[in-house]
Amino acid sequence: MLPRHLAVIMDGNGRWAKARGLKRSEGHKAGTQAAKNIVTRCRELGIEHLTLYTFSKENWARPKDEIATLFDLLTVFLKKELTSLREQDIRLKILGELSEFPFGVKQVVAHTIKKTEDCKSMTLNLALNYSGRDELVRACRKMVAEGISEDRITEETMSDYLYTAGQPDPDLIIRTSGELRLSNYLLYQAAYSELYFTDVYWPDFTPEELDKALAEYARRQRRFGKTGDQI
Ligand code: IPE
Ligand code: IPE
Ligand code: MG
Repeated sequence: MLPRHLAVIMDGNGRWAKARGLKRSEGHKAGTQAAKNIVTRCRELGIEHLTLYTFSKENWARPKDEIATLFDLLTVFLKKELTSLREQDIRLKILGELSEFPFGVKQVVAHTIKKTEDCKSMTLNLALNYSGRDELVRACRKMVAEGISEDRITEETMSDYLYTAGQPDPDLIIRTSGELRLSNYLLYQAAYSELYFTDVYWPDFTPEELDKALAEYARRQRRFGKTGDQI
């Protein structure tokens, strides 16, 4: 079985660069190319939703020049890939608070979202300025602001107030670079996700590495609380 929704924590760009005596920015550049290849592979395979952790709310704590590099790479990526996204019938969505972004980035992102809004084969979610806890806090605030009554607050309503509204929960979450944590990623949505960790640094995460992860996922038994015999 293929996951309907695959979410990835693209980690290890900095260590990849360091191991080669390169600057961290070179690692992020190589990471962008890896992301591009994974998007294409997911689309070919027929994965319907792909979510990439691109910039966390916590990442604002990084040096200013590194943040600037990340935004530059994102803007260039979106500008360069727009035609290809449309050709591949991929819709872009953002999970996170875009209002806090530099004007230029906001503009390119909004343009790409608009130009791909009718694409239907795959949704590419970029988690940008994303924090799982913040997402939940915002959802609660919005429900209160809209006067949602207590009895209408259900697990489904919660889902409808998250950035991922209307999309299935991730079936599989992959984290590269050997770190074994979620780093505030999709906390509500990850309730029953399968987790896959690999030591490979993100720039080295090729479509072949993805195939390995998907093969392992296909071997997992998802029980959702039932016994193995009931499945
Ligand atoms: C992931 O690589 C990219 C972002 C978090 C934006 P890192 O930059 O975290 O790489 P390491 O963890 O320092 O190796
Ligand atoms: C998680 O990676 C965020 C992204 C991949 C964008 P980090 O490298 O920021 O995670 P921590 O801080 O090491 O947990
Ligand atoms: Mg990291």
